[in-house]
Amino acid sequence: MWSPESFVVTTEVAGVYFAHETAIIEPGARIGPGTRIWPWVHVAPTAEIGANCSLGQNVYIGKAKIGNNVRIENNVSVYEPVVLEDDVFCGPSMVFTNDLTPRSRIRREYIPTLIKRGASLGANAVIVCGNTVGSYAMIGAGAVITKDVGDYAIVAGNPGRWAGWICQCGVRLKVALQGAWCPACKAEYDVSDTNCRPRRTSTMSLRWQVKHQCSHNRNQVTR
Ligand SMILES: CC(C)(COP(=O)(O)OP(=O)(O)OC[C@H]1O[C@@H](n2cnc3c(N)ncnc32)[C@H](O)[C@@H]1OP(=O)(O)O)[C@@H](O)C(=O)NCCC(=O)NCCS
Ligand SMILES: [Zn+2]
Repeated sequence: MWSPESFVVTTEVAGVYFAHETAIIEPGARIGPGTRIWPWVHVAPTAEIGANCSLGQNVYIGKAKIGNNVRIENNVSVYEPVVLEDDVFCGPSMVFTNDLTPRSRIRREYIPTLIKRGASLGANAVIVCGNTVGSYAMIGAGAVITKDVGDYAIVAGNPGRWAGWICQCGVRLKVALQGAWCPACKAEYDVSDTNCRPRRTSTMSLRWQVKHQCSHNRNQVTR
């Protein structure tokens, strides 16, 4: 048995992180303090990884920028030029791409992919390059993302299709005419056909409206 404490590594650049003895961490890689690196991980010299991240077994990090508190599950490769903002979750065996029309003998400029703060990418999902996944979006297991995904959107299937809105806490939002709310943490959101964002000021609680069936919400949006 082994534990992170048994293989502490100190870097001059970034402080202390934890790496299993089988991990390959090339000189020059920048790794933030508190980051945990599990067996058989390979970190390239050009990698930039923030603090308190977790890199699961058999992860590869190339020339990519990774924020703080990012969790990458087993068997994920993060290539140039992918950017993962803080709090992103990459499910097991999901895939990033960086060339739309690859050929063995042709080298092209890589196409970027941006995953915004707090977004979660489901197991086995594929993110086709050139797309942005919005903040706190939830990508379903096995989805193929071929278009930009909005903040707080649930997208599933192949090709990925909008399938609802989701709270920062990871629970599907209930949608009414005047907005949306989370049945778990009670947060309220403003929604339109294409956008969802946390509500800043609440004049009348959506939950109150629904409970009392007031005139604003008789025609609930159910799509
Ligand atoms: C997409 C997802 C977020 C939806 O969760 P949910 O809101 O609980 O949705 P439900 O299970 O109620 O399913 C709603 C509908 O979407 C379908 N669906 C659910 N997940 C799907 C997926 N990944 N791909 C395609 N369709 C999916 C269901 O079959 C159901 O269809 P129906 O209405 O025709 O019966 C979830 O299923 C998912 O894939 N999460 C990612 C899990 C994961 O990869 N975790 C990684 C860490 S282990
Ligand atoms: Zn919530």
